[in-house]
Amino acid sequence: MKDLSPAKADLDPIEIASRDEIAALQLERMKWSLRHAYDNVPMYRKRFDAAGVHPDDLKDLKDLARFPFTYKDDLRDNYPFGLSAVPKEKLVRIHASSGTTGKPTVVVYTKNDIDVWADTLARSLRASGLRAGDIIHNAYGYGLFTGGLGAHYGIEKLGATVVPMGGGQTEKQVGLITDFQPTGIMVTPSYMLNILEGFHKAGLDPRQSSLQVGVFGAEPWTNAMRKEVEEAFDMHAVDIYGLSEIMGPGVANECVETKDGLHVWEDHFYPEIINPTTGEVVEDGEEGELVFTTLTKEGMPMIRYRTRDLTRLLPGSARSMRRMEKITGRSDDMIILRGVNVFPTQVEEQVCATGGLAPYFQIELYTSGRMDAMRVLVEASPDAADELSRTAAARMLTKHIKDMVGVSTEVVVGDPGSVARSQGKAVRVVDNRNKE
Ligand code: DLL
Repeated sequence: MKDLSPAKADLDPIEIASRDEIAALQLERMKWSLRHAYDNVPMYRKRFDAAGVHPDDLKDLKDLARFPFTYKDDLRDNYPFGLSAVPKEKLVRIHASSGTTGKPTVVVYTKNDIDVWADTLARSLRASGLRAGDIIHNAYGYGLFTGGLGAHYGIEKLGATVVPMGGGQTEKQVGLITDFQPTGIMVTPSYMLNILEGFHKAGLDPRQSSLQVGVFGAEPWTNAMRKEVEEAFDMHAVDIYGLSEIMGPGVANECVETKDGLHVWEDHFYPEIINPTTGEVVEDGEEGELVFTTLTKEGMPMIRYRTRDLTRLLPGSARSMRRMEKITGRSDDMIILRGVNVFPTQVEEQVCATGGLAPYFQIELYTSGRMDAMRVLVEASPDAADELSRTAAARMLTKHIKDMVGVSTEVVVGDPGSVARSQGKAVRVVDNRNKE
């Protein structure tokens, strides 16, 4: 793999500013953002008043902890535009996430918000090792999902060329990658595995493709999966994080030179980690739920938004901005099996670490007697699909999950191609509990 570290001169000065400079900018912007929310969004005014806090009470960044949280349900309850802080004429874009239940959550952007988003996305791409002049294949879905258009504007802002492919049509994706020779690809990590399969089906060697960097996000993925994809394509795989409520992709991104967690673009998005049960802020380095406050967002400021994503904050490395560790999972995705907490990412690690298996898996929960039980559906890699290899792989994966994750599971090793393929964000858990 090529050394793709960006030149220092190409970085935004704030990325490598001193911590004091960053904190001073954050404080100034946080005061503005709290005031903007309080003055223009009735929900925030009501909440702040009820909690007995006022934007003027913020004298120090730590004072943020006195302000109330915002939850996903607040977006639903204020559907569609109740949390907008600007007149409708100022809005230039609306995105929404469908969610699995109830009303979608709607987010709105001003022209300036779109510019900031493109800037942070371009910064993310530069951190990933991409630059002006590159061709970047964008396979994040276009439409109400923030992935496609968010990445699109960022690629253009970087000065690179975007191939606006969107999701699906794997065969076509492979054809375009082969013909247009992009150096970068943006896609969910699980869909990248479909593209990998597409290369094999077309009789092409993925290691010979033009791709040098994949910028993967929108769902949790592990370092074990990184290794798998990097080896398969002979390219760098870096992590991009974001969420619609705060902006979309590009809230945080890994640096290609270190790949040691994602630098949070703290000049626009202020992170805190809290204990999800008590709501108290924990020290950097401690695990908990990630909470974000937007510092510059006009259309829909978010104050202390509870992401449900679990991680911890670490000091800066390749940049002075703090890092968040790769996300373990969302608190909503956590499976509690006979008292043991299990995240799909833990299973992913073990699938990747077990010989003879392809990196596709799905977890099925079911009821056995009165107990919850878990079955892991995986598939044999094409070169180890005989009965003997499968039995050995099943036994090995069962043992790995028992030893490393701490739960007993049934493992079913199916034929190559038998596990449902991701079309964007992978569905990792199928809950068949109490279904006959
Ligand atoms: O998934 C935005 C995005 C698009 C990010 C493309 C990166 C690339 P939502 O649909 O609102 O937005 O989903 C946000 O996805 O709270 C996390 O649970 C999860 N997520 C996003 N990026 C990562 C990541 C987009 N790198 C939710 N690792 C977030 C783990 C991620 N989880």
